[in-house]
Amino acid sequence: MLILGIETSCDETSASVIIGDRGDEKVTLLSNVVASSLSLHAKTGGIIPETAAREQVRYIIPVIEKALEMAKYSKEQMDAIAVTVGPGLIGSLLVGVETAKVFSYVLKTPIIPVNHLFGHIYANWIKKGEDRKIEFPVIALVVSGGHTDLVLIKKHGNLQWLGGTRDDAAGEAFDKIGRLLSLPYPGGPQIEKMANGIINDKYNFPRPVINSKDFDFSFSGLKSAAAREIEKIGTNNLNENLIRNISYSLQEAIFDVLINKTMKAVQKYGAKSIALGGGVGANENLRSRFELEIRKSKFEINFHVPPKNLCTDNAAMIAAAAFFNYGEIPWKKVNANPQLYFD
Ligand code: KG4
Ligand code: ZN
Repeated sequence: MLILGIETSCDETSASVIIGDRGDEKVTLLSNVVASSLSLHAKTGGIIPETAAREQVRYIIPVIEKALEMAKYSKEQMDAIAVTVGPGLIGSLLVGVETAKVFSYVLKTPIIPVNHLFGHIYANWIKKGEDRKIEFPVIALVVSGGHTDLVLIKKHGNLQWLGGTRDDAAGEAFDKIGRLLSLPYPGGPQIEKMANGIINDKYNFPRPVINSKDFDFSFSGLKSAAAREIEKIGTNNLNENLIRNISYSLQEAIFDVLINKTMKAVQKYGAKSIALGGGVGANENLRSRFELEIRKSKFEINFHVPPKNLCTDNAAMIAAAAFFNYGEIPWKKVNANPQLYFD
């Protein structure tokens, strides 16, 4: 089955072609084109929704054409069009959804509407070099700019939300503190660069709700603690050494909570695999800390994480989630839903 994926939930405009075969454990990626308006937002320190949507209107058709060209297939050969319907920015979502509907109407190709958060999880089901099978039950951790969620997957199509952030998402905390440290937007990758090489957790920021029995997260108190520390130092007195130490301590606090809660979920549900996804999953330190933690534990589990370019927003993950989880529906019934969450 050939699927054209379309993703426009935030500032990226992305299209991808994948092949899914029911007998296969994973889908095959033929192309994945991502255009970003990030450089425009970097100047303003955050995403301006209208700017993002206007850029997406400009990019969407060229990006789809490029994805088809790279995959060496025509739009008429697609068996289905997978599109992100939410959550996300309404103006941005509409660009992808309405484009998909027009393609569907003209080509008579069915649409598969996809939840963006399922997409982040299913980036793990795209074939890559070593291709280990992902055994169920799976505990998935989605850590992005807007979400921090733990999900239990017993089999494809059976996703159970276990918990999520009560306030800020992990990526959001990185972005906000990054701004206070005068680092370019988005803060996450910059904080990773700054933290690299530091080994002492000098600031020992709080690890909110780390000992709670549920699978919830909360990062706003931690963000405030880091902000207070920066205020105490004074923005004018910040130097590279202080920024690097704050970055490291912030990473340590956030990653301690993410790993601790994920391992608790693994234990409670007898999971055989952990699947990490979302932009924060691109962080090398988080990836290696997970691997270390699993080695130290007595659990027989495999750790899966997509390549970095498939952790951040992309259409390939949307096509992969569509293949394993959803049915096709007529274009008239497809609508963008910015508030969409796990059911
Ligand atoms: O998944 P994503 O591309 O978009 C959303 O769906 O939100 O995630 C973007 C988030 C941003 O908050 C960004 O700072 C964070 O992912 N991020 C990182 C890294 N790369 C991106 N955070 C920590 N370390 C990174 N290397
Ligand atoms: Zn995302």
